[in-house]
Amino acid sequence: MTAVIPGPLLHEGKAKRVHATDHPDLLAVDFKDDATAFNAEKRASLAGKGLMNCRISALVFEYLKDRGVPTHYLGVQNDHWMVVRSVRIIPIEVVVRNIAAGSLCRQMPIAPATPLEPPLLDLYYKDDGLGDPLLTEARLERLNLLGPGQRQQLEALAMQVNRELRALFGSVDLELVDFKIELGFTSDNRLVVADEISPDTCRLWDRRVGDVNDRILDKDRFRQDLGGVVEAYGEVLKRVEGVCPEPQVYR
Ligand code: TMP
Repeated sequence: MTAVIPGPLLHEGKAKRVHATDHPDLLAVDFKDDATAFNAEKRASLAGKGLMNCRISALVFEYLKDRGVPTHYLGVQNDHWMVVRSVRIIPIEVVVRNIAAGSLCRQMPIAPATPLEPPLLDLYYKDDGLGDPLLTEARLERLNLLGPGQRQQLEALAMQVNRELRALFGSVDLELVDFKIELGFTSDNRLVVADEISPDTCRLWDRRVGDVNDRILDKDRFRQDLGGVVEAYGEVLKRVEGVCPEPQVYR
């Protein structure tokens, strides 16, 4: 058996490059060190971020796989490369919030750190040019982004991911404040979690720390100029490594 060989670049996003491979159904994803925030108005290169996000995502996807959550993940290769199944990405960012933070507190009269029970699920239309606007039920229907029953399917999967991630991170004293996932359909039309699950896409607070800034272990450190971004990601990595299966090298 040989390793998957990355081929032509198909798509370059803000944090990852997606390459074709010698197998039509497989993609190789290169996690970059680039960090962006506020729709890429703020940018930096953070040495080691790509490697850490690749490894954290792989560990989390392995954990989800063991619990029956379908994902596009197949394995890792060489530090910052992930091998995934090719999927048709649904252009919707699904955000699940357990505690109020970020845009919710800017847009709504809800105080930061307010617990949200039941968790709040928000759908955003994935389009950087439009600033990823919040979707309403009517806009979703108008855009015809999902077929009959698919919204329920997507929301149920996102809520299942939330339950599993809260248990995972909670077991290592990390509070899952909120997260964003993207979903897609495989060639045989199965709905799966795609993209990545990392401190770029989750808010995580350290339950072992009381200070409201020091407890932040996610991209808010970059957004809010708090420093120690890669160190915080390293702490998340160290903790999840203790409780997730070792990522498989894809062959
Ligand atoms: P928000 O509070 O800015 O709406 O973010 C909610 C969650 O989604 C937070 O965990 C960060 C994540 N997120 C992304 O992964 N990508 C994005 O482009 C944005 C805006 C948020």
